[in-house]
Amino acid sequence: MEDRVMPPWEEFKALGPSEKARLFQSGDGRVYHALFAQQFGRAFLDALCETATRTRRIAKTKGGRMFLQSLLQDRRAMLYFAQPSTRTFLSFYAACQIVGLHPAEVRDTSTSSELKGESPEDSVRTFSSYFDLIIMRHPEGGFAEKIAWLLSNTEREVPVINAGSGKDQHPTQALLDVYTLQRSFEARGGIEGRTIAFVGDLLRGRTVRSLAQVLTLYPGVRMRFVAPPSLQIGQDILAQLSAAGVEFELTDDFNRVVGEADAIYMTRIQDEWDKPGESRPVDISRFCFTPAHLKVLRPEAILMHPLPRRHEIAVEVDSDPRAMYWRQARNGMWIRVALILNIFAKESEIHQYYADLVR
Ligand code: NCD
Repeated sequence: MEDRVMPPWEEFKALGPSEKARLFQSGDGRVYHALFAQQFGRAFLDALCETATRTRRIAKTKGGRMFLQSLLQDRRAMLYFAQPSTRTFLSFYAACQIVGLHPAEVRDTSTSSELKGESPEDSVRTFSSYFDLIIMRHPEGGFAEKIAWLLSNTEREVPVINAGSGKDQHPTQALLDVYTLQRSFEARGGIEGRTIAFVGDLLRGRTVRSLAQVLTLYPGVRMRFVAPPSLQIGQDILAQLSAAGVEFELTDDFNRVVGEADAIYMTRIQDEWDKPGESRPVDISRFCFTPAHLKVLRPEAILMHPLPRRHEIAVEVDSDPRAMYWRQARNGMWIRVALILNIFAKESEIHQYYADLVR
């Protein structure tokens, strides 16, 4: 990208999020590499939600779907997923198809030349030569950021979207979660002033970490972190919330919080991060949403989950109108469409088509 000089890696790593965010923008100030939640400002989120909603409206007709497919049909995307994923992978895959982007995939890095001793950085740099966008999930926190930094120093930079990095960040999940909250509360005064409860493995759940950061942009939001003490949210996130003046509480009293919250965000235990042989002796039965909780849940509240679910939400709860997780997944595909359109500066075409449609 034009107009900016990337510092050496060690220097870059030491920068704060706002300085990094500036370096990951394109010349016109739009997000170019989408890597961490602190990159997103409120105006960006509002605009992205609007683009997503207009795009799905356009997609209701065959003509609209053909129009959307024409937008990026000259471009190719690589989905590099070096960590188990099906829902996020398919969500991005479908989002690419909606806008005509041709997707290709790397899902098993053990079949690539990494086996011959090539570094993952070299592999991705090589692959990037064939594509116009990289969508990446990696077990190592910060890997997508490293790749974006690396490509910024090459002659052929392509945008990188972080589709989940280690225990650290899942920025596009935060986008779809905000989009879900925004749609759920838009007729009732918006997200501002709501009480949002996060429940489960908050220590290692990257979705909660990213979403909590993004929600600091909505004045008056109160947060409740409901977890056994050994799985409570990290101090780094709490420090950011304090700095942003957010009112929050750490508790293990799930039953009380169910009756207080406007949105309850359930998560599973992330035991893939347990060391071999290690099993954390935590009783999570107290952090599960059961049919009995439906009676306590406020009538206008919503229940969310990034999925996949285990036992944190009983299946009997699924048919309650406040269970939002299936719609949340669908919202994910559309907000990813909007993000891709934003990166390729195609929103004005969406707004033009939409204006003609509703005229
Ligand atoms: C989440 C993830 O990968 O962090 N899944 C997802 O992307 N929807 C949550 C999880 O795995 O528990």
